[in-house]
Amino acid sequence: MNAALRARAAADWAQVAQLEHASIASFARFTLQLLAVGAPPQLVEASLRAGLDEVAHARATFRLASRYAGAPVGPGPLPLHGPVLGDLSLATIAAATVTEGCVNETIGALEAAEAAAGCEDAEVRDVLNRIAEEEARHGELAWAFVRWALGVGGDDVRRAVGAAFEIAEAALQVPPPASDPDAVELRRQGLLTARERHEIRLRGLREIVRPAAAQLEFGPGA
Ligand SMILES: [Fe+2]
Ligand SMILES: [Fe+2]
Repeated sequence: MNAALRARAAADWAQVAQLEHASIASFARFTLQLLAVGAPPQLVEASLRAGLDEVAHARATFRLASRYAGAPVGPGPLPLHGPVLGDLSLATIAAATVTEGCVNETIGALEAAEAAAGCEDAEVRDVLNRIAEEEARHGELAWAFVRWALGVGGDDVRRAVGAAFEIAEAALQVPPPASDPDAVELRRQGLLTARERHEIRLRGLREIVRPAAAQLEFGPGA
């Protein structure tokens, strides 16, 4: 790999690692939100475990960023000032869970699986395979919570969840980012370009999110 590509890989992995690190905070918040709305204990337990998964993802991806950078890369303080918990109504929490969990965790799992499939580096591939498996489980937790929220909540919850699915659908209308000249090389290092991630998002929405939302009676024909 030439120096420019190595620097790009280091920067991309550092960005992935920062997002994984922020996910630790997201699950810490989700656990508190679950407790605030009286969610079943198995969902609370799954959320706590998911937070620990994110600790492992962050650690593994910071290690990869450090390897490519040739120097230690790690997290700094997260900006958690202000009202971190936000509105604790069931409708608001369920809608946010659609966006962050049902959609983003599900698509994160697909991205990691696809990145692993094209990756020629054994260490990177192992990290991506673990992330793929665990992000899929986080997605399942989100769907389980939304199902529960719809069961115990009123019309306001159903409306908020429906609106969140509609916002996710809007991604299908966004034009694809430009192709990237480094796509093939990045792929070997387990990294996806913005264009590839866009294509995976569209596929995930069509093939997983939309049918699963339809089972909850959302979407066309509902
Ligand atoms: Fe993760
Ligand atoms: Fe996750």
